[in-house]
Order: sequence, then C-alpha cells, then structure tokens
Amino acid sequence: MNILAFMGSPRFRGNVDTLLDAFIEGAKNENPDVNVTKINLAAKKITPCIECGECEKTGNCVLRDDMTGIYDLIDAADIIVLASPIFFYNITAWTQALVERSQALWVRKYVLKKIDAEKKKKGIFLSIGATKGKKLFDGVILVVKYFFDAINADFTGALLFRGVEKKGDINNAPQFLDDARKLGGLIAKNENISNVNNIFIP
Ligand SMILES: Cc1cc2nc3c(=O)[nH]c(=O)nc-3n(C[C@H](O)[C@H](O)[C@H](O)COP(=O)(O)O)c2cc1C
Repeated sequence: MNILAFMGSPRFRGNVDTLLDAFIEGAKNENPDVNVTKINLAAKKITPCIECGECEKTGNCVLRDDMTGIYDLIDAADIIVLASPIFFYNITAWTQALVERSQALWVRKYVLKKIDAEKKKKGIFLSIGATKGKKLFDGVILVVKYFFDAINADFTGALLFRGVEKKGDINNAPQFLDDARKLGGLIAKNENISNVNNIFIP
C-alpha cells in the first residue's frame, strides 16, 4: 500500500506537520508494509496553474518544476493525505498550487478518459485552524472534495481541529494526535474509520 502525504504548512515541525506525522506513525505501526512518501510542499517549487490549456491535449502539464515528478507519485498512490492549516479560511498557497496543478489529472479523467475511474484511491484531509468559528472549514471542504475527485480519490474522511494556534500547541491536545494515529492505523489496515473521534465523513 502506497501512502502519499502532502504537508502544506510553511511551518515545519508546526501543528499540521506534527498531526500528519501522528497519522503516518499510526499507519506504519499497524501495517509495517505500508510505503509512505511525505512531501513538504513549502520546500518545493510548484508554480500555480498558468491556464495555458496544453494539458487538454495530452493530459500532461507543460510546466517543468517539482510537480513534474509528483504526477507519477499520485498515480502510484493508494492513499492520498492532504494536510494544511487554515490561512484566511483557505488552504495555504503551497497546497493550492498542488491543487491547481492537478488540473492535468482532471483532464486525464474527464476529458481524455485515460483513467480507470473504477480504481479509486482514498483521500484523507487533515486541517487545523486557530479560531473556533463554526464555518472555519466550510470553504476548504469544497476545495478538497474537488481536488480528490480530480485525482480519482474518494474523499474518505477528515480531521478538522479548531483552537490550535502557536507552533507546538498541538502537543497540548494529545487527544487530537491520538485521533490522527488511530485514523492512520485504520486506513493502513483498510478498515472502517467511522469510530475515530472527531472524524468528519463527507
Ligand atoms: C497567514 C495566516 C492566516 C491564517 N488564517 C487563519 C484563519 O483564517 N482562521 C484560523 O482559524 N486560523 C488562521 N491562521 C492560524 C493557523 O491556522 C494556525 O496557527 C495553525 O495552527 C497553523 O498551523 P501550522 O503550525 O501547521 O502552520 C492563520 C495563520 C496565518 C499565518
């Protein structure tokens, strides 16, 4: 089983990074055969989509940057984990660049019909915001829904945590890290996730 995990915070060792590592730890503990690739998006050069339309002909993006190798990693993944803090009620710009560049994969699926639409990946979203607003995650849930659809993944579930602000604050909420560990373990064993605390299932 290949897990491809995208870490979208510019704050390495910050809250989302730590939450994502807990997910990965849970996955590896429960299934030592799992193969995990973690990508720190803020350490990569990924240009946003320039809307040139070239991918509509071939399903391939003409831009040459760190996204070039990521298309193959997405292809080979069984599980995609997208992790981003909330910045202005949105995912971060680094995460958004990844999402926009998945347009080439949307084209492969819906225009060129080159993708086996039956062979779906699982998509997991992890997110954290500082405030406690009821609508904090409303916008990003839609973005993530359409990102996962473009890369032919089911939006399987999400952990969405409020009230976590300063670097390291996530460590004051060990129950959130436990939830992520449990979720990672169940995903790695291909088991039902509906009993994970705080799980959001779209
Ligand atoms: C530019 C910026 C914008 C932010 N916007 C929001 C926001 O709209 N709502 C919110 O609840 N938190 C917001 N935050 C707070 C972060 O989501 C929060 O501190 C989070 O824990 C950061 O996670 P990290 O350590 O993984 O980067 C913002 C932080 C930054 C730096």
